[in-house]
Amino acid sequence: MAQSLKQIREDAKRCRDCPLWANATQTVFGAGDPHARVMLVGEQPGDEEDRKGLPFIGPAGRLLDRALEAAGVDRSHVYITNAVKHFKWQLRGKRRLHKTPAQREIEACRQWLEREVAAVRPQVIVCLGATAARSVISRDFKVSTMRGRFVASALAPRVFATLHPSALLRLKDEKEKEAAFEQLVGDLKLINKALR
Ligand code: URA
Repeated sequence: MAQSLKQIREDAKRCRDCPLWANATQTVFGAGDPHARVMLVGEQPGDEEDRKGLPFIGPAGRLLDRALEAAGVDRSHVYITNAVKHFKWQLRGKRRLHKTPAQREIEACRQWLEREVAAVRPQVIVCLGATAARSVISRDFKVSTMRGRFVASALAPRVFATLHPSALLRLKDEKEKEAAFEQLVGDLKLINKALR
């Protein structure tokens, strides 16, 4: 029988399977509806998430909220987690800047994602960005060319990848940003299609 999310969350607090725990404030475990039909998987907690212990509550989370709302998806009905559960960062001046997790760190953390999936049993998994897609779908998945399409996966009946909200935040050109937001919203609309 699958372990309860509460138990998995407790166990994950003590994870030392890769070195990332050492510089992080805490393990940022998934949050949301424990019986959700939809699971969103991001990359790793950011600075704010690391301090507060919850996924997608910083700038990327606020953009994700807007995109979900525009796509007609209620965030309170989904479960949100990350492929990697500790914040990886480097100091630049006084700021802790995000560093992309390495493949071995993604792999070390995959057991927690698998356990979350086994407990929640979502119908749909949405990978937000390349790290999540690498963890859930395959190591050579290219979000730029393969986003917005259902792919086969042992983890859930319906799985697809889309843009990571942080990628939109990095775009300087307003037109490009708007176009990327429309792509993200268009992809997120697949969630309701998949649930019909
Ligand atoms: N980016 C992510 O991938 N996850 C978070 O929780 C926050 C920012």
